[in-house]
This record gives sequence, C-alpha cells and structure tokens, in this order.
Amino acid sequence: MKHARLDLARSAELLPALSGPIGVFGQIELERLHGLMDWDLRCVSSSFAVSKVLSVVGLNVGQVLGAEIEHAVVFIPRAKAEARDLIAQAVQACPNGWIIIDGQKTDGIESIAKQITRDVPNIGSYSKGHGKTIWLRSADATHLIEWRAQASENKSGFVTAPGVFSADDVDPASEMLIEHVPSNLSGQIADLGAGWGFLSHRLLERCSGIAGLHLIEDSAVALECARSNIIDEKALFYWADALSWTSSKRVDAVVMNPPFHTTRSVEPALGIGFIQAAARVLKPGGRLFMVANSHLPYEPALKQNFEKYELLARSSRFKVYCATRGSGKLI
Ligand SMILES: C[S@@+](CC[C@H](N)C(=O)[O-])C[C@H]1O[C@@H](n2cnc3c(N)ncnc32)[C@H](O)[C@@H]1O
Repeated sequence: MKHARLDLARSAELLPALSGPIGVFGQIELERLHGLMDWDLRCVSSSFAVSKVLSVVGLNVGQVLGAEIEHAVVFIPRAKAEARDLIAQAVQACPNGWIIIDGQKTDGIESIAKQITRDVPNIGSYSKGHGKTIWLRSADATHLIEWRAQASENKSGFVTAPGVFSADDVDPASEMLIEHVPSNLSGQIADLGAGWGFLSHRLLERCSGIAGLHLIEDSAVALECARSNIIDEKALFYWADALSWTSSKRVDAVVMNPPFHTTRSVEPALGIGFIQAAARVLKPGGRLFMVANSHLPYEPALKQNFEKYELLARSSRFKVYCATRGSGKLI
C-alpha cells in the first residue's frame, strides 16, 4: 500500500491537479511513482543506485534540480533532519506551487505532519497503508525554509550531513575495524562504501605506505563530506556502485564496513555482494579487512570467495575479519 498511496489519492481526486515540472525529492522508489508518470517529473537523488534505476526507465534525474519546478513531491526519509531539509528545499524551489509530502509511519510522517499542521493552514491529508500523504501551498509555508540543513562538523570534528550513515559520530564498528588494520598496509587500497570517509581518513593517518586510496560510495552527499574530510592527493573519490566498481589495476587491500540493510529489514545479501566485489577487485594475495555485526552470517561468503580468512577480533556486537585472496583464476 505504501507504493500506491499517491496514485490512490490522485485517482480519488483528492490531490490538487498539478501541471508543469514537478520536483521529486527524498526516498524515491519507482513503485512510489506508480500512476504518476504522465506528470513532468524532475527527480533529485544523491544515490547512485536510485539514479540509475530512474534514468533506465527514462525519468529525468540529477543530484540537484537542474531546472525550475512548479510543484514538488517529497518522499520523506527516516532521518528527521534530512526529511526537514528536503521539505525546506521543496518549499524554496517552488514558492507558488503545491508541496506534497508522503511517508510511512515508520519513517516519521505523523510527527512531521503534526509539526507542519501547527503553523500551515488548509492542509490536505490522506492516510492509507500505514502512512500518510499531506499537501499544502508553498506560499503558506515559507517559514519551513528554516529547516534547511547544512553539512557541519560532528562530535569528532568530521564534516557530515543529515541522512548520511553515522552522521553524529564515528561508527563504533568502523572504530573497531581500524584498530585491527595493520599500519604497514601499502600500495593501492579500496574503501568500499566509504561514507563520509572515516576509514580512509584513519588509513592515511596510520599507513604511510599507501600509494592510492579509492573511496567508492553510493551517496553523493556522503562522498562530498568525504572530500572535505580527506585533503590528500592519494585519495580518489568515486560516486559508484561498489558491487560493480572496477579499477584499471587490482588493489592490494580492501577495507569495508558493508551496509546490511536497504530498508529497515536486515539483508545480508548486500554484505555478501560487497564480499564478492572485494574478491573481484583484489590482486591475487590481496587482503580484505572487514567488520560486521556479530550475528550476520558472512563466513560462508568469505570461505567461498577467498583462499583463507581469520577472525581478528570479536566483541558482543561486532566481528573483524581478514580474508586473503587466492592466487588462482581472477574473477
Ligand atoms: C555501514 S556504512 C559505512 C560507511 C563508512 N565506511 C564508515 O565506516 O563510516 C556503509 C556505506 O555504504 C554505502 N553504500 C550502500 N550501498 C552501496 C553500494 N551499492 N555502493 C557503494 N556504497 C554503498 C552507504 O551509503 C554507506 O555510506
């Protein structure tokens, strides 16, 4: 039901009739645009994977709005500061249009709707499928522009932005991983799913033998933060899918704290994909250093894709592995 809500509200003639270019912000999934393809949609996404999916079906998509819009749709993400920022962007981008805001209860739509309803008159609303859609005139909500957020320094002094992984502080799993990476690591290193750059930053501090450090990240916003956090010509930044990223030369080592869910539910398949990708980009004899939540079953994938692997450390929450690429046939 989550996916059909806008279409249902529109078919029931509840939504205002929109024409002209419509900006689409936030957690964009194709299914959520079902029934809306006759609108002139201009999608904004920081995610490489999402952008690829949208452009494959012919939708107009960019990291930022490339043109003026008349109205906007915001699919709110779970991170509240990011949701507020996206709503502010939408209001700013179409001062005379309609703003449609949609989300699941689990993503905090009720609380956002409540905050908006307090000060904005004439809000339309439609609830269905554990979620809600509200709509309002941008001109009635100009004060929401104050919700605009900027990248800023977190507790540990790194630049981060709302919505990026572990924005408030260093992730404890990544902290544990870096403690177990040897300081004599050298050559070409890949940081798969580099986020705002914590692992790469520490590696460059600790390992003087590094010749090139490749940061591969899906989120353009996180990668932009990493560029601010790592001022070093050995660092190279790639807005790309770690699962298919390739380099002209194979790397000596991979470090990673792979993602393990795309939504709320745990999906070890994503981490397994990262393990396969690591094996693919490593030189024969190259090493993977990875951290994972203790309960995630990554050992069969390590066994299948590497000649050997060892547990370097374990706590009640995390485990750190080193796996060595065999000298056999390259994948
Ligand atoms: C658990 S976080 C680790 C971030 C960073 N390495 C750290 O230690 O703070 C995983 C990161 O992988 C990114 N990511 C998820 N899927 C990806 C993909 N297919 N390709 C590249 N990056 C991806 C996420 O955006 C997130 O920044």
